[in-house]
Amino acid sequence: MTIDFTQNGPKVSPLMYGLMIEDISHSIDGGLYAELIRNRALKDDGNKPVYWDAYPSSSFASIAVDTRQPVPNTALTSSLRLDASSAGGGIANEGYWGIPVAPSTKYRASFYAKSDGKYSAPLTVSIQSNDGAATFATATVAGVTGDWKKYTVTLTTDKSAPKSQNNKFVIAAGASGALWFTQVSLFPPTFHDRPNGTRVDLMKHLDAIHPAFLRMPGGNYLEGNTIAERFDWKKTIGPIEQRPGHQDPWGYRSNDGFGLMEYLEWCDDLKMEPLLAVFAGFALGHEHVSTAAEVQPYVQDALDEIEYLIGGPDTQWGAERVKDGHPKPFSLHYVEIGNEDFFDNSGSYEVRYAAFHDAIKAKYPQLLLIATRSDVKSRKPDVIDDHYYQSARSFEADWRHYDKSDRTAPKVFVGEYASQEGVPTPNLKAALGDAAFMAGFERNADVVQIASYAPLLVNVNPGASQWGTNLIGFDALNSYVSPAYYTQQLFSLYHGDTVVPATVEHGGALSYVVSKVSKMGVVYVKVVNPMASPITTTITLNGAKSIATKGSAIVLTSANDTDTNTISEPKKVVPVTSPLKSVGKTFQYTFAGNSLTVLTLSVK
Ligand code: AHR
Repeated sequence: MTIDFTQNGPKVSPLMYGLMIEDISHSIDGGLYAELIRNRALKDDGNKPVYWDAYPSSSFASIAVDTRQPVPNTALTSSLRLDASSAGGGIANEGYWGIPVAPSTKYRASFYAKSDGKYSAPLTVSIQSNDGAATFATATVAGVTGDWKKYTVTLTTDKSAPKSQNNKFVIAAGASGALWFTQVSLFPPTFHDRPNGTRVDLMKHLDAIHPAFLRMPGGNYLEGNTIAERFDWKKTIGPIEQRPGHQDPWGYRSNDGFGLMEYLEWCDDLKMEPLLAVFAGFALGHEHVSTAAEVQPYVQDALDEIEYLIGGPDTQWGAERVKDGHPKPFSLHYVEIGNEDFFDNSGSYEVRYAAFHDAIKAKYPQLLLIATRSDVKSRKPDVIDDHYYQSARSFEADWRHYDKSDRTAPKVFVGEYASQEGVPTPNLKAALGDAAFMAGFERNADVVQIASYAPLLVNVNPGASQWGTNLIGFDALNSYVSPAYYTQQLFSLYHGDTVVPATVEHGGALSYVVSKVSKMGVVYVKVVNPMASPITTTITLNGAKSIATKGSAIVLTSANDTDTNTISEPKKVVPVTSPLKSVGKTFQYTFAGNSLTVLTLSVK
């Protein structure tokens, strides 16, 4: 391998690399959004109170969905009617595949409740094991009347409470009678203690990647199956009682408790910049608009949305953002127009893209616009979003894909990619396929400006997932990161601001990229060896003036490329760091079989 310090390659964008999120496989509801109650507003099924049970059994209570008792002036149009036939009868929620419990932990429970006006006993709120044998935390609520009112209590587990998830949340009546409940909510401690916040373990995994941006909110989730089911951002902001929720194209209902502002607060929490995808008049089921007049309302919605993110307090939607608790405008460079419009074979994207392009550029000339297909003719998009879901071997074979790009064409955002090896999360083979392809992104940083893996999160419970290979797995209590997660992390943490030209022998077996942090003289050499056997190479640092003899090597490998991490074995494949002791102008290094290696050198 020869690294040529006499020349500079392209500059690497400071926004390389980021995350992509949409609510698929319970990534958000039943995942990152820390809400533990499933079907909290009783809208998941109009006929049945799904995920709810009569407590302790139907001998003590009956329950039903009721739409005739809406909470006044809110979007809470459904409730759960409880007819308790005796004291102790109540309602129980099973959560998203269980309610997690940890010792010495505070849970914030809240709900709207009313009675038939005759009921006067207190309610007992608790978290119990599913078999009813153990109660981990209890609180009492008194004073429920015939009028809707919100009640909030804290449930605290003691230090003997076992870490567990086969649990339920219960509200039991103190006497017989009729009661109604809605917006029943239970939050564990959240990341940065946000009241309507995110799950701590998942946020820590994401934070450790040091992502620079978040492409949100999709994906197909942005589009919806129909235009009516799109991510209609204006219905996802403000008090959560006012958010109606909507049908998610991935087969479940989103309560929209995690709405536009919550995505943006997530960006704040991890110091990411939002990459805002705006609905562009095309839904997943191919319903679309095609004339400039028809597209206009969606263009206006996008302008309003951008104003919500970056407008001053004197603008209509900037003022709304201030009202929603975020006076400071967000930093925004990229706006994406739609998602995967290459599936629209009607030709309407030409008209739709042009309308968005003209309106956004007129008001916000500083923004870079991303098109989702490469054949837009009447306008030149700043960036094209490329998506790849392939085998690891095809990524490795095509790792020089962007070497061939036309340098005068729009820049590239690889908005979704993943080697499809391993279910529900990728194995080492996938991690190496991704790494080979990503080396090609970074080598061509003048073409590929930014990139984000997809999908990001998966609830690993049976029936919870709609996609095969996903970066991070979790259940109600535990989470783990895949080998491919480490590829994302290593690329994100170990890249410089400028590519350094390099060549490698070994018959094309190795994929690689070298970059440097110019001011500090730190050089990162990333090499993928997807072969089972190790490869020894001589590394020559051509044109280097001074070289520190010490460096380090981080190696991601395992005995077999099918090795992976799971809930029960979360650390089977992890990167290992070791010192390099005899770096020189020329030195030898052996790249392990089935490995991604990051060498960190000090070169001036
Ligand atoms: O990442 C899963 C889906 O794949 C995305 O929603 C869509 O954009 C792509 O087809």
